[in-house]
Amino acid sequence: MEILNAFSDYEAAALQAINQAGDTDALEKVRIEFLGQKNGRIRDLQKLVGTAKPNEKPAVGKRFNEVRNSVSASLEAKAEHLKNSARQKAVSDFDVTLPGERPRIGQLHPITQVMGEFRELMGRFGFTVVDGPELEDERHNFEALNIPEDHPARDPLDNFYVACASATAGGPVLLRSQTSTVQIRTMESMKPPVRIVSLGRVYRPDTIDATHSCMFHQMEGLLVDRHVTMAQLKTVLSQFARSFLGPDVEIRFRPSFFPFTEPSVEVDMKWGNSWMEIGGAGMVDPNVFAAVGYDPEEYTGFAFGLGIERFCMKHFGVDDIRRFYENDLRFLSQF
Ligand code: DAH
Repeated sequence: MEILNAFSDYEAAALQAINQAGDTDALEKVRIEFLGQKNGRIRDLQKLVGTAKPNEKPAVGKRFNEVRNSVSASLEAKAEHLKNSARQKAVSDFDVTLPGERPRIGQLHPITQVMGEFRELMGRFGFTVVDGPELEDERHNFEALNIPEDHPARDPLDNFYVACASATAGGPVLLRSQTSTVQIRTMESMKPPVRIVSLGRVYRPDTIDATHSCMFHQMEGLLVDRHVTMAQLKTVLSQFARSFLGPDVEIRFRPSFFPFTEPSVEVDMKWGNSWMEIGGAGMVDPNVFAAVGYDPEEYTGFAFGLGIERFCMKHFGVDDIRRFYENDLRFLSQF
């Protein structure tokens, strides 16, 4: 019967095309060509079924179904096969013996590390950590610290005054030039006894070189109570320096002057063969107590301000302060 021959031809051609399809795109083209609902060759076969004589109809219809089912089953089998071989190829292309890529893990900046250790050490001496703003008014940066209007430290050229809304509203505003501001803020907000440290950034328009930066970090300390002595100040500072840098560190006081302490000293540290200046200190000036409403007859106290970069440079063996601010990971990741 001619119709059945056409069915067989169709089936043979379809199976051959499926066999030859090398990837899923090619296979999809074969599917459209042979089984497509719109213009697929299966439509021609359907028309042939319509032309069969009534007595041949059952056999023709049966054969039509067989052919269509066998082509679509072959298509499915081939699709599955292509999918599996693609997966296998991906697995065999992956070289499990290659070394892994080590993820890059960040770390704290050396100055942040040192500040963390300072807080920890001072905490063990009983000092609480407090914070203060970097944008300050003249009362906290100067006046309450007994630094009068005509003092050279208040020269606009030696400070970063800032033009902003609060400057017009409540007087001049500047980036703090020292963390001593936090002494005032603390005493304004609490009664003695006081035992605090405050660590943070300070700003000065210095010429930048290997030991100067226009932004650096200080640790301020303040202890106020009855009967506080300079001997206690010296003990706290030398114990602190020894805990951080080792038992061989020595502390030396040199007479100096600061408006907010009387007497005042500069503090040097001996580590190895040389003395290095690490900051200023002294007994809190009665005028400072008066400015915050503490009774200078009842209370005494000591204060100190240390340069944190100095410790970092010594501790890490870095001879240029600028390295800390250049964000060069080759440098920073050593610590
Ligand atoms: N504020 C001073 C400075 O920046 C350092 C200082 C000296 C702080 C004596 C103090 C102090 O608390 O008592 O140069």
